[in-house]
Amino acid sequence: MKEHATPCYLYDSELLDRTLWEIGKRRDENQYVHYALKANNNPQLLDVIQKHGLGADCVSGGEIRQALDAGFAPERIFFAGVGKADWEIELALEAGIGCFNVESIPELEVIAAIAKRMGKTAPVALRINPDVDAHTHHKITTGLSANKFGIDLAMLHDAIALAHRLENVEFKGFHFHIGSQITEMQVFANLARRINEIQASLSEEERPSMIDVGGGLGVDYENPEENPVADFKGYFQTFREHLHLYEGQTMHCELGRSVVAQCGVLLTKVLFVKQSSQKQFVICDAGMTDLVRPAMYGSYHKCKNLTAEQERVIGTTNMHRSLHRYDVVGPICESSDVFLTDYEMPETRRGDILCFCSAGAYGETMASEYNSRPLPGRHIY
Ligand code: LLP
Repeated sequence: MKEHATPCYLYDSELLDRTLWEIGKRRDENQYVHYALKANNNPQLLDVIQKHGLGADCVSGGEIRQALDAGFAPERIFFAGVGKADWEIELALEAGIGCFNVESIPELEVIAAIAKRMGKTAPVALRINPDVDAHTHHKITTGLSANKFGIDLAMLHDAIALAHRLENVEFKGFHFHIGSQITEMQVFANLARRINEIQASLSEEERPSMIDVGGGLGVDYENPEENPVADFKGYFQTFREHLHLYEGQTMHCELGRSVVAQCGVLLTKVLFVKQSSQKQFVICDAGMTDLVRPAMYGSYHKCKNLTAEQERVIGTTNMHRSLHRYDVVGPICESSDVFLTDYEMPETRRGDILCFCSAGAYGETMASEYNSRPLPGRHIY
């Protein structure tokens, strides 16, 4: 095992490549994939993703710059987000991006005004809130009418009419995104049917050329080794079967997690093992500042003791490590800084190296310097 300063993220570029091949194999010609940079914007990963021909889904001016730097074609970059600042709209127009996913009527008016001032035309898709339940964690559900995202269905006709009327705006599509870490294909089928209903209620002139179904395809956090690649086959097949595209329409999706989650792990070193009257704590040098998902959403990341595994494989010791139950925690001064509770692992000692699996998506991008901690390192193989 190579020595790395911990905590750090390790990425497996071979698995990323395999995942991207699978996407290429499973999608149809008229099913376009835009990678959601928010899941992981590491330039080396972006380089691999861009070379596989994916477009980019960005939610800030910073992400648009990163996508451009990584070589994504401007016309394959979509810009989403419920609150776009004027400078971000200007930057996107200057770069000539493919589409603004517009979340409200006031936003549409502002984009049109800025485009007019700059002598440009803004391609826009209207993000519609379809009121479909994603059956996922409430903090990553976005498509219910109570969520802040998208244009309410009741205002759809007005929004389309405005998009047609405004100068300097080209009405190109509808955009939907109902949530993240969706593992039931039935949910995507429900979304597709909802989109069909919406489209059927419109006149031919009201129907745009692009249907963007958003992101959300989930991964197997429980068994990452058995299922390292997400169910792209089922995903594209579900839309192929259930989404009705009118002539000339293309389908677009914005996958983030399913592209990068399984190719990244977080390595950490055990600082102390501490016994209390009720518990045994493994205190490691990674905390919620490095991987916030468990603290923020109660998410599970499988944890492996690599030192113990290595001993077993190369037989450095005859001592078999018995199984114990631990709370695996970080060093941050917050009681939510807990990765796992009552988790069974081989006896764990100071200096052991642990790894949290499936940490490639929303790991490094959500890291912070809280408690004046340095950001985690990163290495790609
Ligand atoms: N498109 C839009 C409009 C989105 O809001 C998102 C994610 C995506 C695409 C990509 O979704 P994905 O394919 O990755 O599910 N930090 C949370 C996840 C937040 C997702 C936010 N939006 C987590 O760690 O679980």
